[in-house]
Amino acid sequence: MMVAAADRSIVWSDDFLIGIEEIDYEHLCLVEDINRLHRELLDRVESDRIDSTLGTIHARMQAHFALEERVMLANAYPHYREHKAEHERLLDEYTELMTRFERQPSRADREAIEAMLRHWIVGHIATSDKKMSLMVTGGKQA
Ligand SMILES: [Fe+2]
Ligand SMILES: [Fe+2]
Repeated sequence: MMVAAADRSIVWSDDFLIGIEEIDYEHLCLVEDINRLHRELLDRVESDRIDSTLGTIHARMQAHFALEERVMLANAYPHYREHKAEHERLLDEYTELMTRFERQPSRADREAIEAMLRHWIVGHIATSDKKMSLMVTGGKQA
């Protein structure tokens, strides 16, 4: 269950676990990065540090999607194309918001970035990533 907490954007829940250790570990790290970004935005730390956290998340997101795509290909996952398309949409949306925020920070874009990242964790990991894992592992992790 999601619990609202002012100092966190997303509260980690074991419901997010998909059962592939390497991917679960990255999801956990990503949630920590997103919460660090949230605290930095709340504390209004100097914009250089916020930009560096935004960049860190961008790099980790790219590497993470590449890892999942390798796992899907290695297992001849039948929904590879649509899953990869979701990754591309998420990355495009994040890149656009990040670029705009770095150029001209605004409250609207800040909120849009956080909403987009929450949607990724709650709406993609808990559904598409889980579905992929179930088929790839044959449900062995359940
Ligand atoms: Fe993922
Ligand atoms: Fe994914």
